[in-house]
Amino acid sequence: MTDHARVEYDGQTFEAPIVVGTEQERGLDVSKLRGSTGLITYDPGYANTGSARSAITFIDGDAGILRYRGYPIEPLAEQSSFIETSYLLIHGELPTREQLRGFRDQITHHTLLREDMRPLFDAFPPDAHPMAILSAATSGLSTFYQDHYDPLDPADVEVSTYRLMAKLPTVAAWSYKKSIGQPYVYPQNALGYAENFLHMMFAVPAEDYHVDPELTNALTQLLILHADHEQNASTSTVRLVGSTHVNIYAAIAAGISALWGPRHGGANQEVIQMLEEIAAAEGNTASFIARAKDRNDPFRLMGFGHRVYKNYDPRAKIIKNTADTVINKLVGDDPLFEVARELEEAALQDDYFIEKKLYPNVDFYSGLIYRAMGLPLNMFPVLFALGRLPGWVAQWKEMIEDSETRIGRPRQIYVGPTERDYVPISQRS
Ligand code: SDX
Repeated sequence: MTDHARVEYDGQTFEAPIVVGTEQERGLDVSKLRGSTGLITYDPGYANTGSARSAITFIDGDAGILRYRGYPIEPLAEQSSFIETSYLLIHGELPTREQLRGFRDQITHHTLLREDMRPLFDAFPPDAHPMAILSAATSGLSTFYQDHYDPLDPADVEVSTYRLMAKLPTVAAWSYKKSIGQPYVYPQNALGYAENFLHMMFAVPAEDYHVDPELTNALTQLLILHADHEQNASTSTVRLVGSTHVNIYAAIAAGISALWGPRHGGANQEVIQMLEEIAAAEGNTASFIARAKDRNDPFRLMGFGHRVYKNYDPRAKIIKNTADTVINKLVGDDPLFEVARELEEAALQDDYFIEKKLYPNVDFYSGLIYRAMGLPLNMFPVLFALGRLPGWVAQWKEMIEDSETRIGRPRQIYVGPTERDYVPISQRS
């Protein structure tokens, strides 16, 4: 195969080198295109744009393959811990036992929030969406660590990583406690990562609370499955904001906002609302599928479709199995799970979904597990954010350490008015 492509334009020839990845993905390097020809590329939604060379996550969307640092998602989901997977994503290799212990100890050491942060939670109305609180508090964390958040200082980056990993579960749980008017529960450092989070969510100071190990395992698996997904919208946001050299807390707060949207991490919440609507319509999946196919109806099947996967999302496969176990144990028969399975089956047999290669994505079944665990709907995207955090940190770190990184600054094709004369207000009607 040739190592360059040629663009002929207006009598000029531009030779674009081909960039090749370790999995033989090929891209056209257009970084010198504008300088040579005056042309820019036009790619709405960046569907054909590679924004970085990355060694973190590999997806083969046609084959339904997902790997973190070369390791397939399936054994990681089955056998790894969230802390180990986070180490792998951030540092590139599986840790030795000692490295794992050190990483875990550091994260555990930082779980408390500064007491001055407590009033922040009280400043929000009780029905505040916890994603808004999470984003605001993540940005707010930077104010406590202004002497240690230099994005170009590796020691500052390291301690900021520990602080983010340690404190975001506390922020998330407290945003929930605020919404239901219960006292904030402080972290317990003798507990594991997911266990501690569930304890802060569901314990009350008046009595002992023991976290069900099956819930801990299910949550750990969900966190691992959400931990990274290469250049998705929120990760690209973290990289773009980070490319300005703002501190990492601010970059991650921006990623949380991007994740909140219903087309991205907010879809898990929307899936449940959709399933409830279908159940209320006596399980009439056909009419919902018809609406999803109608171009004039904004309704889409939430939890279906993906920019990269044109096959079953490998994460959804694992989550569906876990949902089966967890729901069976916690609630027995769940009519919504039944509706979800029927909807999936009907969609996968429908020509529209077959032609467009639309399959369930990570958000389709995850909400059913969170719901069975007793989490309220608006906490679902928060759980996604907690899982995605190590991926954001790893991608931010890769961006900041990459000598090719420049400030993210796309161009545009201007389509507004050409130059015209200003007319003073006195001369306008
Ligand atoms: C996540 O990018 C990532 O990696 C994200 C993620 C991660 O881990 O970070 O995997 C997490 O965000 C999962 C996706 C969650 N969102 C949803 O479930 C919302 C429903 N899905 C869609 O809105 C949509 O499929 C997206 C946003 C996920 C993908 O959008 P694309 O790539 O821009 O695809 P598209 O909207 O252009 O769809 C192509 C066609 C369109 O029809 P035509 O214009 O070609 O006729 O497929 C149709 C779409 O209308 N289509 C759907 C559909 N999804 C796409 N039709 C009905 N129902 C759907 N869900």
